[in-house]
Amino acid sequence: MKETKIVKVDPYEPEPRLIREAASVISRGGLVVFPTETVYGLGANAISEEAVRNIFEAKGRPTDNPIIVHIHDESWLSELVCDVPDRAWKLIKRFWPGPLTIVLKKSAKVPYITTAGLETVGIRMPSHPVANMLIRESGVPIAAPSANLSGSPSPTTFKHAFVDMYGRVDIIIDGGKTPIGVESTVIDVSVDPPELLRPGGISLEELRECLGEVRVHRSVREGIMVNDESRSPGMKHRHYAPNAKMVVIEGKLNDIKHKIDELIKQFKRSGLKIGILSLSGNMYKADVIKVVGKPYDLKSIASNLFESIREVDAKGVDVIIAEGIETKEIGLAIMDRLRKASGGHVIKV
Ligand code: TXA
Ligand code: MG
Repeated sequence: MKETKIVKVDPYEPEPRLIREAASVISRGGLVVFPTETVYGLGANAISEEAVRNIFEAKGRPTDNPIIVHIHDESWLSELVCDVPDRAWKLIKRFWPGPLTIVLKKSAKVPYITTAGLETVGIRMPSHPVANMLIRESGVPIAAPSANLSGSPSPTTFKHAFVDMYGRVDIIIDGGKTPIGVESTVIDVSVDPPELLRPGGISLEELRECLGEVRVHRSVREGIMVNDESRSPGMKHRHYAPNAKMVVIEGKLNDIKHKIDELIKQFKRSGLKIGILSLSGNMYKADVIKVVGKPYDLKSIASNLFESIREVDAKGVDVIIAEGIETKEIGLAIMDRLRKASGGHVIKV
């Protein structure tokens, strides 16, 4: 077990002295957990093979899942990628800094361990003041997956980052709750037309408004883990999963409510302890009910989603039933996470 230091900072105006301490850990090849505007990240020097190897070890992450490289400034791009096509510049001008990861052809400087052997690298410029200052002060690009143990829901609070990463990293920066709550959108612009690989903080509608045609990867359309070795090999692994079994009910709200009432009766007869993730504010006769965010307010649901899954799971339920919601705007990212958390266990009504 590693000795882990906890450093609490002001998320809006982080104290430079505290951030510099964490930055020096990154420069020396260490591991730092830090807040971003999406979720907590587990960071290390992206161009040091050894530092990145430590990330995989700390998370128990399969080595065929590539890691996003976080930068402080556009000028860092030229060192990390070979070619920035016009469509990438359009995205950069409009959405950076922010929750968008752009997949580009990598330069020789980015080690293959970071990209899991791919010739492309996912790059993102976060807008969170802590992430921003940490990258700037480190002076190197920071490779950072979400700071959860591999397969678990991403941490959006200090508590959840602490539970997963204490004893595995050098420093955890406590910057409170991460505002967006789902990870960055991942778009591959090394292909034409560009392809959405993961929905997230920037919506498909916004991407299309900016670029015109954007394809949607099969794993997003179908809400399943797929085996696509050449494009994003990590997609086949299970993600966001609670310990409890999970099922997602999709359809019209009234039908969803009926189906959930029916399932509750059925699971009760089998003696199961039942948890509900309610996105509509509907109440049910279950053991644990969590209303995720403000009903119908997609942003507040996204912001509370992973925290809610962990919270219900921690009550020791056997099964979690989640209400589905429409896939417009950030609703697509919410449904993507729910479908994947359930291992594709979706009932359409
Ligand atoms: O919001 C976020 O993106 C957070 C914060 C910490 O920045 N990070 C994050 O990283 O979610 P992670 O490792 O949990 O998810 C990275 C996703 C994976 O689905 C991975 O397959 C994809 O990005 N990815 C990374 N590099 C890629 C590449 N070169 N080609 C295709 N997909 C890539
Ligand atoms: Mg992750």
